[in-house]
Amino acid sequence: MSVEPILSVENLSVRIAGLHILQGVSFDVAPTGVTVLLGRNGVGKTTTLRAIVGLTPRNGEVRGTIRMGAQSLLARPTHRLVRGGLGYVPEDRCVFAGLTVAENLRLAERRGTTPAYDKVFALFPELDRRGRQRAGSLSGGQQQMLAIGRVLLNDNRLLLVDEPTKGLAPKVVTEVAEVLERVAESVPVLLVEQNLAVVRRLAKDAVVLSAGRVAWTGNAQDLLLETALTKSLLGVGSGEVPASARSESGLRAPQSRAKDGAA
Ligand SMILES: Nc1ncnc2c1ncn2[C@@H]1O[C@H](COP(=O)(O)OP(=O)(O)O)[C@@H](O)[C@H]1O
Ligand SMILES: [Mg+2]
Repeated sequence: MSVEPILSVENLSVRIAGLHILQGVSFDVAPTGVTVLLGRNGVGKTTTLRAIVGLTPRNGEVRGTIRMGAQSLLARPTHRLVRGGLGYVPEDRCVFAGLTVAENLRLAERRGTTPAYDKVFALFPELDRRGRQRAGSLSGGQQQMLAIGRVLLNDNRLLLVDEPTKGLAPKVVTEVAEVLERVAESVPVLLVEQNLAVVRRLAKDAVVLSAGRVAWTGNAQDLLLETALTKSLLGVGSGEVPASARSESGLRAPQSRAKDGAA
């Protein structure tokens, strides 16, 4: 990478409960745009994000180097990392179901800063309209918007977003992808995403994990053209986007980019 990465992971090793999940993972995240972290289920994508943000379980062991700019992140407490501009949208969304939307947002405000409600409500007008609704009664898509909006209240130097479209209807997948696209114009994103149509739309760079290591890095659009590679590394051909995702989500079908001989 010719420009300085915003995040640099070197030789990251994570063991949890006797399992050696990450066995020397190294990759960079570009200072602009979306870098996507890919790999089959259970390969360690969430474990990677959690190690970056300091949320490895207590019975886990983390080794290696993680740097954001000149700063070393390992061994720093999560609240410090977040205050330093590392935003994390976890896989399971983690909104407070019993609290209202407005209360969920208020809890995310960082002391000593001015929360960017205008920006968040411009991206997600529904969060403004549904301020008094209990978060537990929101749809999956609305909860995802709340989980992302909450992080965007504060200034971030880098966002980590874990499978934001998982389990969502195709129309909502498109909405989430549109929001992430706009967000990534101003802050770099490390995104875990299984929906290859979303990857195609958003990602500039790709990192693929396999068997505890990095199996491939490079241009995300190049990776998606390599059907044999995506099949062996991800278990799917890049052309295998469900018809529903093509027609309803408005996302470009991968076949439209396939060049001769790629399949
Ligand atoms: N807290 C934990 N205790 C035991 N095993 C775990 C824990 N967290 C993750 N694992 C295991 O580590 C592997 C990687 O998990 P994960 O990072 O969640 O994968 P991915 O996000 O790529 O689907 C899986 O085999 C999972 O069962
Ligand atoms: Mg995961």
